[in-house]
Amino acid sequence: MLKPEEIDEIVSRMSLEEKAKLVVGVGMPGFFGNPQSRVPGAAGETHPVERLGIPSAVFADGPAGVRINPRREGDERTYHATAFPVETMLASTWNRDVLEAVGRAMGEEVREYGVDILLAPAMNIHRNPLCGRNFEYYSEDPLLTGEMAAAFVKGVQSQGVGACLKHFVANNQETNRMFIDTVVSERALREIYLRGFEIAVKKSKPWAVMSAYNKLNGEYCSQSRWLLTEVLRREWGFEGFVMTDWFAGDDPVEQMKAGNDMIMPGKTYQVKPERKDEVEEIVNAVKEGRLSEEVLDRNVKNILRVLSDSPSFKRYRYSNKPDLESHAKVAYEAGAEGVVLLKNDGVLPLNRDMRIALFGTGQIETVKGGTGSGDTHPRYVVSILEGMRERNLRVDEELAETYTKYVSEMRKRDEYRVRRGIFGEPLTPRLPQDFLSEGELERFAEKNDVAVVVLSRVSGEGYDRRPEKGDFYLSDDEKALVEKVSRVFHRFGRKVVAVLNIGGPVEVASWRDLVDGILLVWQAGQETGRIVADVLVGDINPSGKLPTTFPVDYSDVPSWSFPGEPKDSPQRVVYEEGIYVGYRYYDTFGVEPAYEFGFGLSYTSFEYRNLKIEKLDHAVRVCFEIANTGDLPGKEVAQVYVRAPKGKLDKPFQELKGFHKTRLLNPGETEEVEVEVDLRSLASFDGEMWVVEKGEYEVRVGASSRDIRLTGRFTVEEELRYNP
Ligand code: BGC
Repeated sequence: MLKPEEIDEIVSRMSLEEKAKLVVGVGMPGFFGNPQSRVPGAAGETHPVERLGIPSAVFADGPAGVRINPRREGDERTYHATAFPVETMLASTWNRDVLEAVGRAMGEEVREYGVDILLAPAMNIHRNPLCGRNFEYYSEDPLLTGEMAAAFVKGVQSQGVGACLKHFVANNQETNRMFIDTVVSERALREIYLRGFEIAVKKSKPWAVMSAYNKLNGEYCSQSRWLLTEVLRREWGFEGFVMTDWFAGDDPVEQMKAGNDMIMPGKTYQVKPERKDEVEEIVNAVKEGRLSEEVLDRNVKNILRVLSDSPSFKRYRYSNKPDLESHAKVAYEAGAEGVVLLKNDGVLPLNRDMRIALFGTGQIETVKGGTGSGDTHPRYVVSILEGMRERNLRVDEELAETYTKYVSEMRKRDEYRVRRGIFGEPLTPRLPQDFLSEGELERFAEKNDVAVVVLSRVSGEGYDRRPEKGDFYLSDDEKALVEKVSRVFHRFGRKVVAVLNIGGPVEVASWRDLVDGILLVWQAGQETGRIVADVLVGDINPSGKLPTTFPVDYSDVPSWSFPGEPKDSPQRVVYEEGIYVGYRYYDTFGVEPAYEFGFGLSYTSFEYRNLKIEKLDHAVRVCFEIANTGDLPGKEVAQVYVRAPKGKLDKPFQELKGFHKTRLLNPGETEEVEVEVDLRSLASFDGEMWVVEKGEYEVRVGASSRDIRLTGRFTVEEELRYNP
């Protein structure tokens, strides 16, 4: 990194035009007549100032893997990147080491493909289960979000490249995302929506932050001085630079003043004709005294400080040959820890020699991840059917052939042909699932030992999901398939397992009693099929836990104002539920979820023992033991919730304040766990200050938010107050 004096010296030699160029990207590479990036498919590039030895820097998405074009014109070579599990699945691991390993692997691909900054992690809160990009985000809980993001950023940046936290902040829906006014109280903002970013900024020092599209209480995030300068830099000590989301905001000068250092992708007027060229706009604003050159210099310095550490600046000679082989293993291992076993009535793990009847077109069209900028282009995606074949499971080949033919025939029909959406993303009409006759089902039930039914969903940038059949609810034909398969197989004394290949919650309460097991395999990236096969037969013992609540019904969701008003074209969304997001709502108001936050079963069992609570000066030390009391090796995610005393401020019933994932414990083995809870993290925001009210706090250690195994107490004698 250049020293501050060296940066000052460079900036003192820059012309006004050069400064203005450095804070504005070159325009969206490969679109609107702009040349392709030197790394084709990358989302953005900065202007070079060759005269002063400043090269351009390249930015690429995204959260599930480096998103660049896998092929280049006139080039025989390929440029595939590893498709890792989606972020929600990574958060289901609750394992910081896994996140760091995934970050390291992605970071190496970023570097070796000639990219400088990865546009990830995305870390908006799951306010509502239908946000179309929730799969790209970690959780409904800010602590889990922040911890996962921090570990990931550490991994990425250990490779000498940058990570970029996005989308800052309260970008919790896709509907009218570029203009929606998000109205949210400062308390909810600070305790829920900002907190994850705060943790990640403080713990992992990300190179960059991307401001969000939406307005926050009337002001575009990219134009909010309070958000970008007061909170991010002054309160949290952020030292990187801030870039806009692509084409965000409406005033480049206000963006500069607010502390939004860089405008991306640049040339916004190409898509918004009412705009001017930002470079010109900034130059004129300085000349006319509407923007002080000191502000521009400050932003330029923020950018240069970071970019002077980038591979491009150091003229790093990248290989275009990242270690895809070993990263495939990292992707597999991450997925293996993120599978969540939701239900198991004595069916799983399957015996390896069981004959398996595999239903659902998702066995072939397995969804590796979502669409839009969170997509990836891997060398391969192992479908569930391929994974099971590869692992030599005894899949009914006649049924598999039936499905293979069905999918290929149906996709030839015009109504089911895969089309391209506004981002060039595949739009894949859902295929009818209920096409086998009762007689055929009987035949398959007779000659197999178990049925596995795959149900898939896909969503992505630009759209929210819908509270309708075929999306949040099963479609009629999916339900018919589950019902018929269950009825017929049960009649033959066979069990039935549902495999959920989805990126966010679906309704399960109305049909879960029909099946004997439910395996939530999320969208596990390129290795999905192998992971599913290995979990089914117990080569992987599931150890994932839900980072987000599965509600009984959509009408139970507290963020009922989603996606805003007026209903036909939302302009404004008021977060009336305040801090009561996710389990904070369900637990406080006694609403029973289908599967609660933190829930997940295992093929073994764990016992929690010997809780000890020790009050330190600034923290509380929570110690306990976890023993594997079952018959198989397994890992457990222990969660530490704290329940505050009744005081002046409203408080949720309980809040997650720490967690720990054990190592692989053999049957009979015990691990001693120690979780430290910082007293500050107990504070609520009273409108001006962070306050920890005095009184008796309950520590609740559990296997989920509703499966509390140990409780204890500590007292805060005197109220504690902190400045933001
Ligand atoms: C998305 C960002 C992404 C950017 C560049 C935007 O549409 O919201 O998450 O990083 O595009 O692709």
